[in-house]
Amino acid sequence: MPDLAIDGGPAAAEALSIPEWPQPVAESRENLLEVFESGTWCRGPWIERLEDEFADYHDAEHAIAVSNGTVAIELALRAAGVEPGDEVIVPSYSFIASASAVPTVGAIPRFADTDPATFTIDPDSVREQITADTVGVVGVHFAGYPMDLDELVPICEEHDLFLIEDAAHAHGSEWRGRKVGAFGAFGTFSFQESKSLPSGEGGIVVTDDDVLAERARTMQNIGRAQGETGYRHYTLSSNSRMSAFQAAVALGQLETLPAENERREENEEILLSELEAIDGVRTKPRDDRITARGYCLENFRYDPDGFDGLSRERFVEALRTEGVPVFDGYEVPIYRQPAFFRDEVRRLLPPGAEIPDYRNLPLPGAEQLCRENVAYSHPLLLADEEGIRAVADAIRKVQAHAADLRAREA
Ligand SMILES: Cc1ncc(COP(=O)(O)O)c(C=O)c1O
Repeated sequence: MPDLAIDGGPAAAEALSIPEWPQPVAESRENLLEVFESGTWCRGPWIERLEDEFADYHDAEHAIAVSNGTVAIELALRAAGVEPGDEVIVPSYSFIASASAVPTVGAIPRFADTDPATFTIDPDSVREQITADTVGVVGVHFAGYPMDLDELVPICEEHDLFLIEDAAHAHGSEWRGRKVGAFGAFGTFSFQESKSLPSGEGGIVVTDDDVLAERARTMQNIGRAQGETGYRHYTLSSNSRMSAFQAAVALGQLETLPAENERREENEEILLSELEAIDGVRTKPRDDRITARGYCLENFRYDPDGFDGLSRERFVEALRTEGVPVFDGYEVPIYRQPAFFRDEVRRLLPPGAEIPDYRNLPLPGAEQLCRENVAYSHPLLLADEEGIRAVADAIRKVQAHAADLRAREA
């Protein structure tokens, strides 16, 4: 076995060539120029086209374009009827917006644990968090791997809760042959530039419900009724509209998304078949109910026992030096972020609201993922087959040298 790259040997994943991201599509450029010269930079036909095409692509009746994926969740919560002091169950292992949107609209987040096998919200833990004040659940299709909708939708129906699917990572993901997003009250997406459908910033909300769609449209447009542009405002809400420039870019990028996702899926299959055979690498379960995958990042769990006790930090460092750009993700679950210190949350909630002691929550699944996660971004899955196989070669090489690396850690 050649020397580790960390010791000056050749990088095992030299063949891995990852495309730059975002990848500008020619159609986005043409659309942008058209918008620029049209004089309609706000609202109008480009936004409507994006909403129609995205709703169609994601098997939803309605889509409402917004300025980013964070306000998409806030808008969905408001339109779903959340009121100050209500409780909403949120994921513990995700980007902070999946949970911070809840206090931002004056409601109390209650964190559910995360299933470490799938990185998605644990339905049993959701059940445990339901109280008389719970009005809804936000879950994430984390890394584009759908949460268990067979479990979550009935729990929500049984307890009369809305479900918001944070699908910021899941453009194109399918559950039992249907795209995610409109299984619950709302699905929310991000078009931020690192996402698989990028428009710089941007987002969209989807729903099958006509009434919820109209409420979301009104609230997205500072209280104006659908289709109106004047000075009559029916609700007190903000402006979260997307600009026509963002829509122009997203429309172009949407053209290439399905083929890119197919390529990612094929490559993930190759990578999985290699990784599943490596001791100490825990991949996500194959699930027949997931009929297509979208991606933002992808993850596996690292078990030092398969690597002579080598720490994950040192494994990630060695693998990066071998040419595979992995990273270890969130250092702490969302509830241990400084933003969730009680005084910080209290500022946003009605006086007297009972706020859990987030910092001391015992949610072992989320904690485990913070220790074991190894992630890579979706453009890696657009590499060629030789590059994809080189990822597994690099892991095996680090494994072969693990005892030596471990000895240096001590
Ligand atoms: C799971 C998840 N939800 C929501 C968001 C928020 O999206 P945005 O950055 O467009 O506000 C992100 C962004 O990374 C995310 O990863």
